[in-house]
Amino acid sequence: SPSDLQSILVFTSSLARSAGELILEGSQAIRSTGNVDEKKNSVDLVTEYDVKVEELVKKELGGKYPTFKFIGEESYAAGSRPPLTDEPTFCVDPIDGTTNFVHGFPHACISLGLIYSMKPVLGVIYNPFLDQLYTGVKGQGAYLTQGTRGPVKLPLAVPRPLPSLSQALIGIEWGSDRSHSAIESKGDSFKRLAGNPKEGVTGGRMAHSLRSLGSAALNFAMVAQGGMDVYWEIGCWPWDICAGSIIAQEAGCFVAGSHSAPLDNLVTEEVLAGRKHLVIRAIGDTPTEKGIDAQKRL
Ligand code: IPD
Repeated sequence: SPSDLQSILVFTSSLARSAGELILEGSQAIRSTGNVDEKKNSVDLVTEYDVKVEELVKKELGGKYPTFKFIGEESYAAGSRPPLTDEPTFCVDPIDGTTNFVHGFPHACISLGLIYSMKPVLGVIYNPFLDQLYTGVKGQGAYLTQGTRGPVKLPLAVPRPLPSLSQALIGIEWGSDRSHSAIESKGDSFKRLAGNPKEGVTGGRMAHSLRSLGSAALNFAMVAQGGMDVYWEIGCWPWDICAGSIIAQEAGCFVAGSHSAPLDNLVTEEVLAGRKHLVIRAIGDTPTEKGIDAQKRL
């Protein structure tokens, strides 16, 4: 119920702040020890702190909500892969933006979502480097709490007239798939967006520019805040998008994915989020690669 979700939000927001303290401590430690491991390739990074933060969060959530299921990036990597069911399920990326975390680029966060009946219903994203807490609850709006300021509601910024992707500020990511074909196709799309107006993606004009925050969750948060007009990425996992998608939706964004039940099959996903007409425009044209369909809303 709405009041249950509000009390879960209070608990998970405070837990995200505790996780944030560990993330900050870890960032200092890792930058002095250089203890960084690689997962599927040399740009897919993980540290002992990704695991420590996930353990902390899993333990606290399990103590408070023992009947809820848990899906986490590091538990999944370690082989714990429960199927997604209709039951309430927390979906957590302990450190989203691990590369930033390792380099001290201050855009990394914990991304904590709650899925119910296969749909995200609550999202908490906390960036401890900038002390920014983004929250969203289904039907109850999205908020940003920063520093000592109280929560500020995040409606999608009043749209400036953007007839197409031209003049938009577009969030993109290189991701960790650096195979030749992936880099070619992403690079081509980025080039089409950033220049070459003759090819028409931007209606004869160009996107104002492209940005990479290095964290899928923070890209969603930035779109929710109105700082970027659209975010597009191929290759996101449920824990990258669960919290961000509900925050963006509650801020009035349109969020689309490449699967009809994207969180259902726990696979990587192409996602688009932002102002509805721009998302629809992007769906009808490049940059989507895997055929995002406007009906396939998250
Ligand atoms: C990654 C980051 C990155 C995005 C990838 C994510 P991680 O998460 O969000 O910006 O491009 O799709 O998997 O590995 O830092 O938790």
